[in-house]
Amino acid sequence: MVGMTAPFPEHRPRRLRRTAALRRMVRETDLSPRNLIAPLFVKEGISEPVPIASMPGHHQHTLESLCKEAVDLAGVGVTAFILFGIPAEKDPGGSAADDPEGISQRGLRALREELGSDAVLIGDLCLCEYTDHGHCGVIVGEGDGGPDNDATLERYRSIAVAQARAGADLVAPSGMMDGQVAAIREALDREGLDRTAILAYAAKFASAFYGPFRDAAEGAPRFGDRAEHQMDPPNAEEAVREIEADVQEGADIVMVKPALPYLDVIRLARDVTGLPLAAYNVSGEYAMVKAAAERGWIDGRKATLEILTAIRRAGADLIVTYHAGEAADWLSEP
Ligand code: PBG
Repeated sequence: MVGMTAPFPEHRPRRLRRTAALRRMVRETDLSPRNLIAPLFVKEGISEPVPIASMPGHHQHTLESLCKEAVDLAGVGVTAFILFGIPAEKDPGGSAADDPEGISQRGLRALREELGSDAVLIGDLCLCEYTDHGHCGVIVGEGDGGPDNDATLERYRSIAVAQARAGADLVAPSGMMDGQVAAIREALDREGLDRTAILAYAAKFASAFYGPFRDAAEGAPRFGDRAEHQMDPPNAEEAVREIEADVQEGADIVMVKPALPYLDVIRLARDVTGLPLAAYNVSGEYAMVKAAAERGWIDGRKATLEILTAIRRAGADLIVTYHAGEAADWLSEP
């Protein structure tokens, strides 16, 4: 490729940047509301939405405010939602996670009723919001090795079935247990739920950028951390292996998370799979933009659109982002 253009002074790249119309014409990457997936939190046992301090503009919702928020988002063109439920009662096995009357299932049913088939509903599939110890799986014994992998898979199978029956178009396992996609696919198919798709958190790193989310979802581990099951941040080749494994296990969409510190991993993922690729622009990434913009240190709107465009440029088709509503709003302006 290098050398295909004449050198300066014949070639002057600024010619195509001269006017907004020229720049628009040669733009390589588009960002549209249809690329965005909005995360929503629904909490059991509250009568008013509760603002999340570290995530300005976001709330733990009641079933009613959840539906209202989703309708507002749909009004600006965001029609895909990933739902996180926060139960009133937590226990060691996270029994609310697969209870047909559990808050996430009620949330999915309420959203479906409100929005019909125009909306894409995704159930985040994990145990950390539901267990009293805050881990993403079942703890056996002292739990010093983290959640027990295979015992946790049994729970994930059941949660997948519950979410699918509640109307999820996709279930999204986020616990980074080995074999989670295969286990869930098998469980869904066995129950005749072969039309429910899987969005796999394939390469999810043990990141410092999940802090605000853990306040929002009330799922911080009470002891230990997630480093023994989430990926080690320096590893990109391993991320490729994780992605390939999830594709083989039956994922319909694969995801890289977080997004901004892992744009290289998104690009690697893009190059190894033809499946739709998602990236999760996580809570800490959102909070940084909001905090700096609030102080007037950056232009929040420009920074947000630049970040989302960069994630698309790296190769993501879909972006799970707390900026979804405002970004869609800005994109609709002429
Ligand atoms: C939990 C889960 C987490 C996020 C999504 N699902 C937190 C974690 O792994 O600790 C993080 C999302 C965010 O930070 O926006 N399974």
